[in-house]
Amino acid sequence: MTIRHRLCALDDLEPCAARRFEVDGHPIAVVRVGDDVHAVGDTCSHQRISLSEGEVLCERLEIECWKHGSAFSLLTGEPSMLPATRPVPVFPVTIEGDDVYVEVP
Ligand code: FES
Repeated sequence: MTIRHRLCALDDLEPCAARRFEVDGHPIAVVRVGDDVHAVGDTCSHQRISLSEGEVLCERLEIECWKHGSAFSLLTGEPSMLPATRPVPVFPVTIEGDDVYVEVP
């Protein structure tokens, strides 16, 4: 079962930048690309580094870990390059009006 939480207003999210949220104990990196919002686990699967401190690669819909450069898909959570080999979780996002919601287990 998942629980839906309101994160923020859409306008609170800077385009093509990551913002970290903590929702029910889940660290989440939230990224706005245009009018879409993506949410992935904020902790790199290689070491315990916050992905929201890294760069967002907007055209590729990826977020890059600043420590060793693995980039993770904002759609699937899968890394596209080493050294990370495991995906980070992806959390469903919905936007209603100006409100952004995320679902967490
Ligand atoms: S800590 Fe993220 S790629 Fe190594």
